[in-house]
Amino acid sequence: MNIVLGISGGIAAYKTPELVRRLKERGADVQIVMTASAEEFVTETALQAVSGRPIRSNLWDKEAEASMSHIELARWADVVLIAPATAELMSRLAGGSAGDLLTTLCLATEAPIAVAPAMNHVMWSNAAVQDNRQTLEDRGFTIIGPDSGDQACGETGAGRMTEPDQIAAIVCSPRFAGRAAAGRLAGKTVLITAGPTREPIDPVRYITNRSSGKMGYAMARAAAAEGAEVILVSGPVALSPPSDIETVNVETAEEMYAATHERIAEVDIFIGAAAVADYRPATRSEQKIKKSAEHMTIELVRAKDILASVAALDPAPFTVGFAAETENLREYALSKLEKKRLDMIIANQVGRNQGFDLDDNTVCVYWPGEHRAFPTAQKTELAHDLVAVIAERYEAARGTGTEPSLSVISLKDKTRA
Ligand SMILES: Cc1cc2nc3c(=O)[nH]c(=O)nc-3n(C[C@H](O)[C@H](O)[C@H](O)COP(=O)(O)O)c2cc1C
Repeated sequence: MNIVLGISGGIAAYKTPELVRRLKERGADVQIVMTASAEEFVTETALQAVSGRPIRSNLWDKEAEASMSHIELARWADVVLIAPATAELMSRLAGGSAGDLLTTLCLATEAPIAVAPAMNHVMWSNAAVQDNRQTLEDRGFTIIGPDSGDQACGETGAGRMTEPDQIAAIVCSPRFAGRAAAGRLAGKTVLITAGPTREPIDPVRYITNRSSGKMGYAMARAAAAEGAEVILVSGPVALSPPSDIETVNVETAEEMYAATHERIAEVDIFIGAAAVADYRPATRSEQKIKKSAEHMTIELVRAKDILASVAALDPAPFTVGFAAETENLREYALSKLEKKRLDMIIANQVGRNQGFDLDDNTVCVYWPGEHRAFPTAQKTELAHDLVAVIAERYEAARGTGTEPSLSVISLKDKTRA
């Protein structure tokens, strides 16, 4: 999705580099257009670095106009988002002004326009500002927020810009701008597990692993951006839950199994991105185990295999697993694909400086008889490519896509046939 992000001169402009990151995480291409006042609050350098595109601010910039005119820019946008929107800018928009690049572009675009106002709470409640808000709403603009709370001026009230993650969730949702039908997974329910599990030894100790949940969370956002209804079943992670995704927080493999199976009947695609414990302590001490003997042994028993249990359902959702291995990646991944009767497996090498707890990843995706390698990329960007392959194979397996349905017969289908 192409988003023109208009930034006007409010104090909340300091949050826009974060907003750009959140939009890009959801697969958007972001072109920033700043007002002259916005440049007082946030630098072009920072915004150019995060957006990866030169910043536009001047209607009379001959070079920029020659490469993409303001009219072309208005046509390029799938969505125009203005955040923060000052009282002044709202007034110019309501009055139909075309005195600068941003307002001119807003008059020239056919894309939906979303506005996230941010200002002092007394300014926000001023009748002139409220009249302008009403005018914009009547003309079909989407007004996001503002939220209530502490303000930069030291006062409290309604006028804070809505948090970047929430703004990104709203404008990138397929429902915004009537894009629901465009998403490749529109109408599908996708359940994704993410993060590690914790297997308690006693009330203060547990066994866990290095999974950060970043890949699973990125997959959840990418699936939502493709129009899916996403359920995220998450182990304990240090990530904020995506505001537009139903997130179920669990701790142990047993809880993750229960949360998954409680919802699996309504699921079309299951993606097991969680690093679920293979073994758990056989017993859990009710009290803290005291330091006494020189050696101690903890007996471990197999934990529930969520991925295999989902793949074995009849009917089973399209089931995608992850294989994180330190050696023999291809061999182990293919063996897991076959043994657990998965439709697809995403294999990644883990170990020192690889895979877990990092922002990037290198993966190879296998499905019966075929594979596709993905070079190292940010997990947030890689997730969009992975979701695209999953959607493609899902359509092929279910015979709903443009590809011939017989091109892929999953191992599961073969064994059942
Ligand atoms: C320190 C400072 C902070 C400001 N913060 C805001 C703000 O949060 N919201 C707002 O509507 N105006 C704010 N203003 C006023 C706008 O910057 C001013 O109305 C400006 O003309 C807006 O221009 P623009 O809408 O073209 O960016 C602030 C001004 C100053 C000096």
